[in-house]
Amino acid sequence: MQVFAHISDIHIGGSEQSVDRAALVMRRLLSFPGRLDAILVTGDIADHALVEEYETARDLLRSPVPLIVCPGNHDTVPEFEKVIGPANQVLRLDGVTIALADSSIPGRDDGRLADETIAWLDEVLSERPDVPAFVGMHHPAVALGVPYVDEIRLQEPERLAALLDRHPHVVAVLAGHAHTGVATTFAGRPLIVAPGVVSTLLTPTESEALVDHDLPPAFALHVFDQGRLVTHFRPVTR
Ligand SMILES: [Fe+2]
Repeated sequence: MQVFAHISDIHIGGSEQSVDRAALVMRRLLSFPGRLDAILVTGDIADHALVEEYETARDLLRSPVPLIVCPGNHDTVPEFEKVIGPANQVLRLDGVTIALADSSIPGRDDGRLADETIAWLDEVLSERPDVPAFVGMHHPAVALGVPYVDEIRLQEPERLAALLDRHPHVVAVLAGHAHTGVATTFAGRPLIVAPGVVSTLLTPTESEALVDHDLPPAFALHVFDQGRLVTHFRPVTR
């Protein structure tokens, strides 16, 4: 069994509460009494992509548990890489590989996997074809019923679908961007979107307002056991 905490969209500098909310969630994760194998952060790390925002994020995301991060549409890769690390990161654990890939497009809010990112994923996923793998990125590859986000989702999702077809050991796809915990499917696999730490986006069914800043930050807890992924979505209020 492996257990992963998945957080997203901390948007440091994006609101007065951004630092407190990220700190609250990290404190919760790092005080778990039980098993936690890794922490995954699927983008939108710094709201304005400023080096000082990344420095704050780096300090907040310090963890004795292995932690990997990818950029989002609010991030810029040069600043991200200067402070946080490579834009594509992989964790090779006993029994599972987790690859987080850069789906950002410079100057745009929608996403796309560049040729070199697809090539990187192909290489990483080819290393251990017998070991289950998870692939994560910022942008969800399907529409989620959140109109604002749906317009700026992953473009050319068929490129990701083709990659997954080449690597049947990929168990699920993980994403962020939508600021709402979502379970759906893509290319025959679960697609799990982590809630937003900085805020929550609502569906038109729930509210005419797009953003809720009062709902608590939340995370996804992925439990992978005997080939099955089970995800718990958990708000953090203290
Ligand atoms: Fe975001």
